[in-house]
Amino acid sequence: MRYGHFDDERREYVITRPDTPLPWINYLGCQDFLALVSNTGGGYAFYKDARLRRLTRYRYNAVPPDQGSRFLYLRDDERTGSSPECWSPTWQPLRRPLDAYECRHGLGYTRIQSRCSGIESGVQFFVPLGEDLEIWLVALTNHRSRQARLSLFGAVEFCLWDAWDDATNFQRNLSLGEVEVEPGVVYHKTEYRERRDHFAYFACSEPTVGFDTQRSAFLGPYRGWDAPLAVEAGSLSNSIASGWYPMAAHHVRLTLDPGERKELVFLLGFKENPPDGKFDPADSHVLNKRGVRPVLDRFLQVSECRLALSDLAAHWHDLLSGLQATTPEPHVNRMVNIWTAYQAIVTFNLSRSASYFDTGIGRGMGFRDASQDLLGCVHMIPERARERLLDLAATQLEDGGAYHQYQPLTKRGNNDIGAGFNDDPLWLVVATAAYLKETADWSILDHPVPFDSQPGTESPLYEHLRRAVQFTLNRLGPHGLPLIGRADWNDCLNLNTFSSTPGQSFQTAPVGEGRIAESVFISGLFLLAASEMCAIALHAGRSTDSEVLEAASRAMREAIWAAGWDGEWFRRAYDSVGAPIGSRQCSEGQIFIEPQGMCVMAGLGIDDGRARMALDSVAARLATPDGIVLHAPAYRSYHLNLGEISSYPPGYKENGAVFCHTNPWIMIAEARLGRGDAALDYYLRINPSAREDKSDLHRCEPYVYAQMIAGKESPSQGEAKNSWLTGAAAWNLVAVTQWILGIRPTYDGLEVAPVMPSGWGGFEAVRRFRGATYHVHVTRIGAGNDLQLEIDNQPVDGTVVAPAGPGAEVQVVVKVGALAE
Ligand code: BGC
Ligand code: NOJ
Repeated sequence: MRYGHFDDERREYVITRPDTPLPWINYLGCQDFLALVSNTGGGYAFYKDARLRRLTRYRYNAVPPDQGSRFLYLRDDERTGSSPECWSPTWQPLRRPLDAYECRHGLGYTRIQSRCSGIESGVQFFVPLGEDLEIWLVALTNHRSRQARLSLFGAVEFCLWDAWDDATNFQRNLSLGEVEVEPGVVYHKTEYRERRDHFAYFACSEPTVGFDTQRSAFLGPYRGWDAPLAVEAGSLSNSIASGWYPMAAHHVRLTLDPGERKELVFLLGFKENPPDGKFDPADSHVLNKRGVRPVLDRFLQVSECRLALSDLAAHWHDLLSGLQATTPEPHVNRMVNIWTAYQAIVTFNLSRSASYFDTGIGRGMGFRDASQDLLGCVHMIPERARERLLDLAATQLEDGGAYHQYQPLTKRGNNDIGAGFNDDPLWLVVATAAYLKETADWSILDHPVPFDSQPGTESPLYEHLRRAVQFTLNRLGPHGLPLIGRADWNDCLNLNTFSSTPGQSFQTAPVGEGRIAESVFISGLFLLAASEMCAIALHAGRSTDSEVLEAASRAMREAIWAAGWDGEWFRRAYDSVGAPIGSRQCSEGQIFIEPQGMCVMAGLGIDDGRARMALDSVAARLATPDGIVLHAPAYRSYHLNLGEISSYPPGYKENGAVFCHTNPWIMIAEARLGRGDAALDYYLRINPSAREDKSDLHRCEPYVYAQMIAGKESPSQGEAKNSWLTGAAAWNLVAVTQWILGIRPTYDGLEVAPVMPSGWGGFEAVRRFRGATYHVHVTRIGAGNDLQLEIDNQPVDGTVVAPAGPGAEVQVVVKVGALAE
């Protein structure tokens, strides 16, 4: 069953009923001002950091869910009496049945269109490029045969900045709230009189007849956002918040003739003043609003909002045109050309901080997460990728290790979870390699970057990368495999941090010696990173470094074959007493997906059949119609010595769910073996669009990946969870575009080496690369994966197209398969 449909032409997903299985959300904002918006207007906004600069409040674990923070109410002022007619044009929070409803989530905007009682309303939410504000562009049309007299109320509930503190520290916070009011504008300035230099504001383009800034005045006693007293009464009381719960509501009265349409704007903004220019006059406590006035003057005009919307559309059009493909498979086209690229940028912006599953009060930016997210969008936003690499490297520790997370506002590593996730630093190498292949900007290697954000410790980025790889080599275990530390990619495989205390974080539980537990997964990742590092070192004229790494890689390969191979697949790890994990010797957790993907991606066993054996084992033991599970059998009881992994019931999360992040590793591995059919098959099992028809089972949004889909051993197999912020976006995009379509940047140029599914007659693609545009035309001429390339009508050897230089248009014709004799 579906709850909507794709509109590929307009690059939108159209939701046709408000009661989706879960809130289906979208993101607004491209850089500093960011917001979540659901299909009924829920969500919240923040500036840069979802925890430390939260603008509007989100109510965690609320029932009914998803009420807030864009409150719009319409009231029919002709119907008076005990039960006036009121509704929300976005359905929530009033949830009165609407005569028509449609939500279109597009690239950086969401539009909710509805109709009730003869009044049509359309609300478009978006954040203009380069501005620190969110616009609600509202249009109302009277379809009645008579004049309509309406009240429109627009409201937000402010969060007192630090969203964690806001949700917990009532004894202080309920005595802090302060606002200022000017006609049509409410300013939220809690804590501004002391150490904050920033404030928020909520404005309306139409003359207003009233406002409220104290929540209790607006809602009335014992009422919620779904039954505000002031809306029912049809008038606000001009309340001024002092402490308690500052909010902003504006009341507009409208008279619409039959057929008349009226547009107006609500605007939620953020402003930071210079510390010495906070007040106006300087010796007062009155906000200096001079910086805000021109913004209000501009964006409270509908025409300016329309211009900003078309700028936004052009921005996204430009980003996505970096890679467009037309294949025989609509689910590939839709996801590659629109949604996965979009999701990759959203995850790049937010890491794992703020979604409907990541609360925005927990994690900051993850080191490995941000590194991998970059893989999916470096071709669209190379400058931002460069900045991100330098930011990440600046949080790296002197020993080459990394904080697991850093705070986006301060860009400093945070110690909440600490360091010691031994895969983390290697991802920085993988990400930098992707950046270099895309841009050939070798100068980044010389860029001075501090360690642990400490001035005076600056070293060239190259040195950071070198230490990242050396970090693994300095931490080898009894079998010569990398020590795992607190965990590797699988955050829940905590082989050194045992926890028998309820509620304790598995990842910060005291770490044991840590000299025994080893990770085969990290060994594969090491080989991948080391081979990139060798190429980088050679390019940088550091041939000694490359020789050292070659030797280390040889030793690592030997260690893997000696201790990491189980006979039919790669083992996962060794625990703290040296017992294998992910082996046929185990009764549960016999085989894991991660090392099969990573080791084959690193090239292991491709020549001697062992890669094929490993992937065949994946197909036989881990693949399900809903994707490939992490491991099997899932753990049925709690194993103290394995950490968080077995804390989940079988089939959920890291205990044997389908992780959409790791499935693409198997797709890439299959492509490396030339098995395009298997690669595409796996791709389609988890492709959200291909699962749209079972939205009632899948439950999450059909336009973006979720972190996981419940595995075969769970009672709700096939149900997705934790949508949006997942490395699945980047990796699925890489797998399908670089390995199935085969269009991938290399240090020397753009490689075009498709591993096409046998049923495809061909495909077309356009790829921007280092300033040139490559038009790729692929045709199957026979069975198999043989490739013949012609560049601008000239046959060439090999599959790498040399860079053509900025502005060039290059035609690349590829014939796939062997001609029948
Ligand atoms: C979750 C993991 C997540 C980790 C983040 C764990 O509690 O189960 O999925 O990766 O926290 O640090
Ligand atoms: C989500 C985390 O953000 C990511 O870093 C980790 O690799 C996966 N979960 C698997 O545990």
